Amino acid sequence: MNLTRRPRRLRATPQLRALVREGTLSADDFVLPLFVSEKVQGRQPVASMPGVAQLDENALLDEARGAFEAGVRAVILFGIPVVRDEKATQAYAENGVVQRAVRRLKRELPKLIVMTDVCLCEYMSHGHCGVTEFHGDVAHVHNDTSVELLVATALSHAKAGADVVAPSDMMDGRIGAIRSALDAAGFENTILMSYAAKFASAFYGPFRDAAESAPQSGDRRSYQMDAANAREALREVELDIAEGADIVMVKPGLPYLDLVWRIKERFGLPTAVYNVSGEYAMLKAAAANGWLDEKSCVIEQMTAFKRAGADIIITYWARQCAEWLRSS
Ligand code: PBG
Repeated sequence: MNLTRRPRRLRATPQLRALVREGTLSADDFVLPLFVSEKVQGRQPVASMPGVAQLDENALLDEARGAFEAGVRAVILFGIPVVRDEKATQAYAENGVVQRAVRRLKRELPKLIVMTDVCLCEYMSHGHCGVTEFHGDVAHVHNDTSVELLVATALSHAKAGADVVAPSDMMDGRIGAIRSALDAAGFENTILMSYAAKFASAFYGPFRDAAESAPQSGDRRSYQMDAANAREALREVELDIAEGADIVMVKPGLPYLDLVWRIKERFGLPTAVYNVSGEYAMLKAAAANGWLDEKSCVIEQMTAFKRAGADIIITYWARQCAEWLRSS
């Protein structure tokens, strides 16, 4: 055969493949989600997420330090309070579980980027992400009063020293409201990472065990997005950028890679993807059964996120990936 083009030439050796590789993974790309709880002592493993645990403050510090030493540069915190009520009071309490954890982490590990998830679901007695009125079984989540509480929450995190606040509630107008409140309080350098295109997804199931945040009745479809809607996702991202988001996120990850690509291409902002709990649980379960090889599948998935355009990957495998990359 007399072929002009032989693409296989460039695949012949590991060195050649490395030479032409279009992108590489680095520990700098990852953010590790951590669950800090007022209700546990030490570590309380989450059954549906092998390797993930709810942590008390000391265990949180150990976990964060271990990740940092492995090369992970950022964590995102979720809090589990003892007291939950109809106004999510503990979400914005000066001494709330996340606020204390942030102060501790920033004191002990000043170079670690500390991000906080800004949401009300873990702090509301009913588990919805905002102020909710029930009509029978139907939950009405009120937008503007929820935004007021989200602003208070983000501010309290910034005051505690959070480097990045990340609203995950999907209320309208919260990015602009949080940005102006942060600026007015002198936190003009606090970074806003918006969960801009967050879908109502069944893949959050295991997380809701970990964060104890499943809604008692109803679902999140009146605020999180419909899985079918890509153009709407672009509009959501556009709004959040106009309101002042520094980083935009797509969530979940693998089933929504088309959006990572379109959002990065269209807007060019630092783009994050959340490799969510269900994506983690699926592969962990398959690996535990010997059906898939965990390490190869994880590295392939992380590479796919980057290929799609993600700059930042939020994943429960963050520390593990950093260790794998270091030893490879
Ligand atoms: C809080 C929040 C959720 C996740 C991140 N922030 C759950 C939800 O919206 O129900 C999901 C993360 C995961 O599944 O790993 N609103």
